[in-house]
Amino acid sequence: MSESVPQRIAYLRGEIERHNFQYHTLDAPLISDAEFDAMFRELQTLEMQYPSLVTPDSPTQRVGAAPRQFFTQVVHRSPMLSLNNAFNEEEVRAFDVRTRETLGVAEVEYSVEPKFDGLAVTLTYRDGIFVQGATRGDGEVGEDVTQNLRTVRNIPLRLDSGRLDKPIPFIEIRGEVLMFKVDFIALNRQQADKGDKLFANPRNAAAGSLRQLNSRITSSRHLSFLAYGAGAVEGFTLPDTHAEQLECLQKLSVPVPQERRVLHGVDGLLAYYREIGELRNKLPYEIDGVVYKVNNISQQTRLGYVSRAPRFALAHKFPAEEALTTVLDIEVQVGRTGALTPVARLAPVFVGGVTVTNATLHNEEELRRKDIRIGDTVSVRRAGDVIPEVARILLERRPLDAREFNMPRTCPVCGAHVTKQPDEAIWRCSGGLFCPAQRKQALLHFASRRALDIEGLGEKLVDQLVEQQLVHTPADLYKLNLQVLAQLERMGEKSAQNLLDAIEHSKQTTLARFIYALGIRNVGEATAKELARHFATLDNFMMADETRLQLVPDIGPVVAQSITTFFAEPHNIEVIAQLRAAGVQWTEQAEKAVQLLPLNAKIFVLTGTLASLSRDEAKSRLEKLGARVTGSVSQKTDYVVAGTEAGTKLSKAQELNVAVLDEQQFLKLLNNSEMSPASG
Ligand code: IVH
Repeated sequence: MSESVPQRIAYLRGEIERHNFQYHTLDAPLISDAEFDAMFRELQTLEMQYPSLVTPDSPTQRVGAAPRQFFTQVVHRSPMLSLNNAFNEEEVRAFDVRTRETLGVAEVEYSVEPKFDGLAVTLTYRDGIFVQGATRGDGEVGEDVTQNLRTVRNIPLRLDSGRLDKPIPFIEIRGEVLMFKVDFIALNRQQADKGDKLFANPRNAAAGSLRQLNSRITSSRHLSFLAYGAGAVEGFTLPDTHAEQLECLQKLSVPVPQERRVLHGVDGLLAYYREIGELRNKLPYEIDGVVYKVNNISQQTRLGYVSRAPRFALAHKFPAEEALTTVLDIEVQVGRTGALTPVARLAPVFVGGVTVTNATLHNEEELRRKDIRIGDTVSVRRAGDVIPEVARILLERRPLDAREFNMPRTCPVCGAHVTKQPDEAIWRCSGGLFCPAQRKQALLHFASRRALDIEGLGEKLVDQLVEQQLVHTPADLYKLNLQVLAQLERMGEKSAQNLLDAIEHSKQTTLARFIYALGIRNVGEATAKELARHFATLDNFMMADETRLQLVPDIGPVVAQSITTFFAEPHNIEVIAQLRAAGVQWTEQAEKAVQLLPLNAKIFVLTGTLASLSRDEAKSRLEKLGARVTGSVSQKTDYVVAGTEAGTKLSKAQELNVAVLDEQQFLKLLNNSEMSPASG
């Protein structure tokens, strides 16, 4: 008897995935495209006849599914961290010295690989099946792009765990989604043929393709994945070096970087950097540096993390590229906080992977210092995501009619006068939110991805909304309706409805995002998170005075003042009230226990040796009491605990007049605090 339908389907899936792997990962196809297509079509036909047999890990699912309206958010099981960067040899040597000293070894074994210039994703496999894929997002929360990642041909939909001793119940695989250079060129050619917008570089193309609400579009773009490590793992023990972990992933048919190596000592690292630098242009994908990782995992654990980056790894970046062009004009842009930024309009030039037509000149002082004039030939520098800037000018090429530029004394957008703090380099428009430029930027910031994330509210739309006086403040966004939106330029009923849905969707947010969205000067995303964590409720935050604000880690007098100035403005309070009335909300956490702890927010530095307890014990007891333990002494340090043989930290404490505790005093403080009932 011939095989059953389920058997045939299983056989086809197995074969198709095997050939996918041969073709996309090993670059070594065993059969012709026609043979592959025939199998694929047979599988598609069978699945069409027996829809109940379709499973998410079937290769047919790689063609994408119906468009969706939003990406849902995914909280990463373990955060997706970033890397510290080094830009020169000294910084690499310093990293190696620190690593050796902390580990107490003469030479470190490193695992090294290129730094891929794509976008980070995490892939979750349960019992070997790809069940979820997410973007990095802010490192803690990303977007669920599972359907789109299924279309990436070299991502295994099922891990090939037959080659391991036992299967893995749960694993997160981390890596980068990229577009190969050839695929990027082909895509842009297609885009040009269709009259569609071109992508600036492979990374943008990869990001744009992956963040498509319509996964069929993602499927039509040739994306690739490369793994550089594992996240959370359950029910399985990975090998105890990074290099072996990558080997293990490779056994599971996960694509891993071929240029990876295991090396010893800092000279090995630097040689690798040069070698990959020379190879860079020949690689099929873009890289922007190399990454050094301490190979041994228990050594990695000992080195630990500083804020968002591991101490056991370092990205050594390639230098920014430069190219020559001419300054066609100098204009002034007005930013969200009213800052006037001179911007050079340049003759288009290709540098650092994109065509550059503008470069920031930062501020008036910088403009004067560099003495940039209209007509000058300049060298423009750009690295990665960084805004292009003028590295230097070629005075010998200055034409006779080169013109100097003077900062205007009134805002070029609203005509309000411009002011400058005596100790600042920046001129600001005094028009506040009455200035359309500031209003537009504030709205764009409010709607941006890391703020309230209103997909589809772009620059063109905000321009219209502000110019037609439909929207004055972010709160007005929640009053828009279909009729009003549909009459705007380039807005059909469908896109108007999508925008309304996105606005509705944005109402459910987090306190951290909300604080960030307000656009308070000097309050970026990281600060907003700290504030949300510390104050737990918006009311607590709004009521805090400068002294209380400065108890929050990393908040100094400047930021504290920006915050109180913001809330001193009745207009801002009004907008916040309107936003809440419109239904913008988050789950307010009850006043967190940590705020009530006896040593809440006190900052300690430990130095020297304590006789009665280890440093780790001291640290953990302090942290349980709400204190923070940091590594260096500054004005913000509340106490320095000095054991025997305390060194420079003690003298620094004396210099800065920071309270110093000896071991007896410290133990007393610990014991008393541990006994005391929670207090404010
Ligand atoms: S390891 C614990 N390895 O660089 C550190 N990251 O700046 C996790 N990246 O978000 C990252 N190539 O997207 C690592 N070989 C590589 C990488 C790499 C590119 C990206 C990654 C990460 C960013 C950090």
